[in-house]
Parts: sequence; structure tokens; C-alpha cells
Amino acid sequence: MKGASPVTLTGITTTGTPHLGNYVGAIRPAVEASRSAPADSSFFFLADLHALVKNRNPDEVACSSLEVAAAWLAAGLDTENAVFYRQSDIPEIPQLTWILATLTAKGLMNRSHAYKAANDANREAGVADLDRGVTMGLYCYPILMAADILMFKANRVPVGKDQRQHVEMARDIAQRFNHHYGELLTVPEADIDEHRAVLLGPDGRKMSKSYGNVVPLFCPAKQLRKHIMRVRTNSQAPGEPKNPNDSLLFDMYRSVASPEETAAMRERYAGGIGWAEMKNELYEYLDALLAPGREIYERLIASPSDVEAELKRGAERARSVSEPLLREIRAAVGLRTLGA
Ligand code: TRP
Repeated sequence: MKGASPVTLTGITTTGTPHLGNYVGAIRPAVEASRSAPADSSFFFLADLHALVKNRNPDEVACSSLEVAAAWLAAGLDTENAVFYRQSDIPEIPQLTWILATLTAKGLMNRSHAYKAANDANREAGVADLDRGVTMGLYCYPILMAADILMFKANRVPVGKDQRQHVEMARDIAQRFNHHYGELLTVPEADIDEHRAVLLGPDGRKMSKSYGNVVPLFCPAKQLRKHIMRVRTNSQAPGEPKNPNDSLLFDMYRSVASPEETAAMRERYAGGIGWAEMKNELYEYLDALLAPGREIYERLIASPSDVEAELKRGAERARSVSEPLLREIRAAVGLRTLGA
């Protein structure tokens, strides 16, 4: 690792409305980091160019950018300290993507999990052309992600386990660049919290928009209540001792409560807390936790130009890093002003 302080960077794909799983897995840790890290050493951005790979509905893409940005701001992201911006506001990123693409082996992209998953889906469906439905956007997704990271000399990239391979590809690509053109790029490392369990949704599968199985983060209280009431339980009656280690409600509670509160709730499971009572406890807890942010969220959704201004300010700060670095990169690869 070079330099004194680490540079942290992570992107949030703008698909869908932020949910409790996003909050626990990404938003809350980033908000905490944004408050403690030295100024200008952490970068958080809306990966809206990546979103285009997954969503071709323009209104949904635009709406999700607003919702995701508003959620991060409402959750308390310190944007004085951290740099918060939108990927598509940084024209240096797609330029770097192209330069990196010229160095990236096609074989490396063939090994990408997302691409292989698409191939497997076709194989299983008996489709002869395994590349059916695969766009160049999906195929080159890891190169764009490498540019996101390398553009800001990030060395710490907090991501979920599913993104480890992408960060490793970024390392590979950076090393190749440095080997060929000189040591301009910082080789990043994935920062994966192995202990953080994936939060399950109301029906017991991974909380994910693609399963329609989420607890939205800043929805109105009444809706939040409805989502919690829908969480799957078993048929045990009130008064029967219950197993907290096999309870979606307990998992959700634990993901937001303190260790002491969690221990106390464990006791109440042993004492036979009823499911209706537990649902109410969880709802009350989440509502108290989220109500202050919900108010800010609603205000931001109603005034998108405030969010826009915040992102524009972030983009300016981000570009004070990306512009000079891209200038160096362009010169290094031979894209130079003639006669200078
Ligand atoms: N691909 C990441 C995801 O879907 C989002 C992302 C895009 C990202 N660019 C990034 C994460 C750069 C970390 C660094 O979760």
C-alpha cells in the first residue's frame, strides 16, 4: 500500500428502492466511515452507468438514482468529509474504461461470474447460443468497475462477497497497466466483512428486489408495519419457548439492535414471546430508528434539485482527482498534445 492514509471507495448500483438489507450491508457502515475517515479519503458513488446494464427502463433508472442518493443522505452520510457523486458525472471514467479495455484479456472477462451465470442460464434453458441476451455492457462490466476504482487511486474497496472477483480483476488490470506503461495506478484490495450475515427477506430468501422480497428502508410507517407483519414465522403459539437462531424476525432485529438489546431479546425468545408481539417489537424498533431519516428522505424526494446540487458538488470534488490522473494516464499511453 502506498501513501499514508488509505483511500476507500465503493459504488452503489442504482437499481430499485433502497431496502433494509442495503442499509445493514452498505449504507450504515459507509455512513459510519464517512464520519470517521480523514477528509477526502472516502469516495461513495451512484453506479448509474452500471445500472444501465440491468435496467432499460429510463424512468426507473432516473427514479432509482434519486431514491438511492436520498437514502444515503437521509441515513446521515457526511458529504463534507466523504466525496459523494454520480458515476455518469465523471467523464474521465468512461475514457479510462476504454484505455483499460485495450489492456484487458478477453479471457479474463470470460471468467466473470456474472457472464458465466448468464451462459449457465442459457445452457439450462436449452438455448444453443450461450451468449443469448448477453450485452457487451454485461460482458465488460468488470472493466468499468475497474475504472471506477483506479480513477481515484482507491486501495480499500468495501464490497459484498459477490463482488470480490471484480476487485481482483481490477487488481489484475491495474498491474497490467503499470507493467506496460509505468506505475501510475494504485493496486486495490477488496475489503470484505466475512462476518456480516446476508439479511434474509420476509419470505426467507435473500433480501433482494429481484425476488420482490424486501423491507423498504424509508417507506411510510404504515407500509413498514405491513412489511414486518408479512415476515414468515412458524406455527408456535405464544408462551412456547422459541429458537432465535431460526427466526427471520430475530435476524432482522439483531441486524439493527445493539448486542445488549439482542441478548435481552434472546431471553424473551426463551420465555416464549408470541410472534405477534415480536413483530410489534421489531416494527417499533425499526420505526424509531428510521423515523428521523424518513422525514429527511421524504423532503429530499420532494426536492430533487437539492439532491442534484449535492451530487454536482461531489462530482466537482471527484473530478479534482480524476482529471489530473487521467491527464497523466493519457500522456503515458501516448494520447498527447502534439508539439507540446
Ligand atoms: N458492482 C457493484 C455492485 O453491484 C457496484 C459497483 C460499481 C462498485 N462500481 C464499483 C463497487 C466500484 C465497488 C467499487 O455492488
